[in-house]
Amino acid sequence: MKIVFVTSNKGKVLEASEIFAPLGHTVEQFLDNGEAPEFSEPQSDGIEEVTISKMEQALMMLEGDPDEETAIIVEDAGLFIDSLGGFPGPYSSYVEGKLGLDGILKIMEGDGNRSAEFRAVVAFHHLGHTNIFRGVCRGTIAHEKRGRGGFGYDPIFVPSSSDGRTSAEMSTVEKSSISHRGEALNKLIQFLAPPSM
Ligand code: IMP
Repeated sequence: MKIVFVTSNKGKVLEASEIFAPLGHTVEQFLDNGEAPEFSEPQSDGIEEVTISKMEQALMMLEGDPDEETAIIVEDAGLFIDSLGGFPGPYSSYVEGKLGLDGILKIMEGDGNRSAEFRAVVAFHHLGHTNIFRGVCRGTIAHEKRGRGGFGYDPIFVPSSSDGRTSAEMSTVEKSSISHRGEALNKLIQFLAPPSM
């Protein structure tokens, strides 16, 4: 199957490609005249609602259902910091652009409770149907940025099952084995090919 990932984030496409490659599925980023699409994000508290809106927009961009060998995925994710009441949550993208990772570290200076979680919602559309898959990755906010891998908040996020490294200090495969997106995409894989009894 060819999976068209409608996103402007190449990091997400790389992660999905590595997850689906062993199953023989290819993942391609959707480009319109060589450009990644920009979604208009609804003002919403929920990443699930944003994901559904992204899928509606993706179907319009693609002008309807693709052939049966092709599926579409979109995804929305967010970083929810416990001591900030879940901030930045659905505003993660905006906050990354405005405050940056240094801004988050500054807000959290002296904060003893550094617990946080990443959440991801993936929408998968194939043969006229859309299914939703969710993933969560608990962790903590580091005291400083570390690592060059991944993207977004990875240099300040230490997953709970990590040995202390941030997600940006892990390979893509390692990050995906424990990440919010990895969990959601692995649920999608189970849905596509449930294990035989
Ligand atoms: P969106 O899902 O592309 O809208 O991403 C929301 C925000 O979360 C952006 O600032 C992304 O950079 C960030 N983000 C999403 N997924 C990840 C991840 O796996 N690691 C680090 N940051 C992420």
